[in-house]
Amino acid sequence: MDADAIIIGAGACGLMCAVQAGYLGKKVIVLEKNEKPGAKILISGGGRCNYTNQFTTAEQFISENPHFIKSAFNQWTVGDTISFFETYGIEGKEKTLGQLFPDDKNAKDVVEVFTATCADLGQEIRTKADVKVIEILADGFKVTYEKNGKTITLKSEKLVIASGGLPIPKMGATDFALRFARKNNLKIIETAPALVPLTITGKDEEWFAQLSGNSVFCEVSNDEISFEENILFTHWGLSGPAILQISSFWRRGEVINLNLLPNENIASLVDGERKSNGKTLLSTLLNRFYTKKLTDALGKFLPLEKPVASLTKTEIESISKTIHEFKVKPAGDKGYDKAEVMRGGIDTNEISSKTLECKKIPNLFFGGECLDVTGWLGGYNFQWAWASGFVIAQNI
Ligand code: FDA
Repeated sequence: MDADAIIIGAGACGLMCAVQAGYLGKKVIVLEKNEKPGAKILISGGGRCNYTNQFTTAEQFISENPHFIKSAFNQWTVGDTISFFETYGIEGKEKTLGQLFPDDKNAKDVVEVFTATCADLGQEIRTKADVKVIEILADGFKVTYEKNGKTITLKSEKLVIASGGLPIPKMGATDFALRFARKNNLKIIETAPALVPLTITGKDEEWFAQLSGNSVFCEVSNDEISFEENILFTHWGLSGPAILQISSFWRRGEVINLNLLPNENIASLVDGERKSNGKTLLSTLLNRFYTKKLTDALGKFLPLEKPVASLTKTEIESISKTIHEFKVKPAGDKGYDKAEVMRGGIDTNEISSKTLECKKIPNLFFGGECLDVTGWLGGYNFQWAWASGFVIAQNI
């Protein structure tokens, strides 16, 4: 045997698993197809890495089996993530909504924590190692990978698949885990891009495109859930944190609702303005909350140049509907090239929630994004990747 375990993928889960296994004196070899480990960590949070969220609970995850992650999150908590990085000189700073970023460091430092610690612990990370085949043996696994045109095989008793999900193929993302699962009759929950911008085409396209670059604080909702954060208009549709959040819950053909003024009631604002200065134009009132460009664009639906005192009851009702119940029917999403995560994945019912071992294939473990565990935007996905890496390390 070449190591106690082979880990496929030097992403967030695989790297944490290698370090934690090293603490326990277990020798692993990590195989990574990219030239460098941690590609997605490096680009995460705009290069700053939103590495966890202080308010993480099972509620911020989408999965067919919502209880699955609870055991892993009990074994490795947000506090564990915070102290782990503190040990290596990375202090967390909350940006917003519990999202922790390294205070005076960045994503590169986060990756270095893992590469340096793996080196210290004697854990080997082999890069440019593209795993092609896994053979299940009576006493373990044979893993075949290609590196610089050569075919190399390794054997180990335990195997960890932490090869991630489908987003951003040009950064090394593969369907390796899903293909392996399919071949071995493990159920897969249908996958789709998530935390992804939404596109608008057809008759509404021009209206949205004219607002490209403008952002506004909104409540974005569908029948299932709502999020209050910014949305960003782009020349092809909608992006920004609130849109990325709802995209994980959006299904093709569905209409989403934008409340363009979630912390106010436009009818009450009009009423108040009527009492203080009835001559105020509706446009002047709206410009207090929106960019001029957005107010002007809303002129397609609203009598902007009317003084508030002369607005009729019907007009106020219609203004209220436009501002608080602005309906959008996205045409689609920007796909895996722009998605931050994958929804769906290997069915968690195939996996032990306590150990993350595959129930049908003993000594094989799955962690991170390849499983049907999809976090909201805000550091939740890394918390899952770290937690699953830790749990697997205890069991390999
Ligand atoms: P990950 O994708 O990190 O690693 C899998 C590794 O396996 C890759 O390095 C890949 O090259 C390798 N691999 C695949 N197939 C292979 C094969 N056949 N052989 C060898 N290696 C193979 N989350 C968050 O919590 N906070 C944030 O700030 C962000 N920001 C963010 C920005 C962007 C642009 C994206 C795309 C994603 C995020 N995320 C995020 C999500 C986060 O990056 C993601 O959830 C984790 O990286 C998943 O960790 P994994 O280890 O499961 O996969």
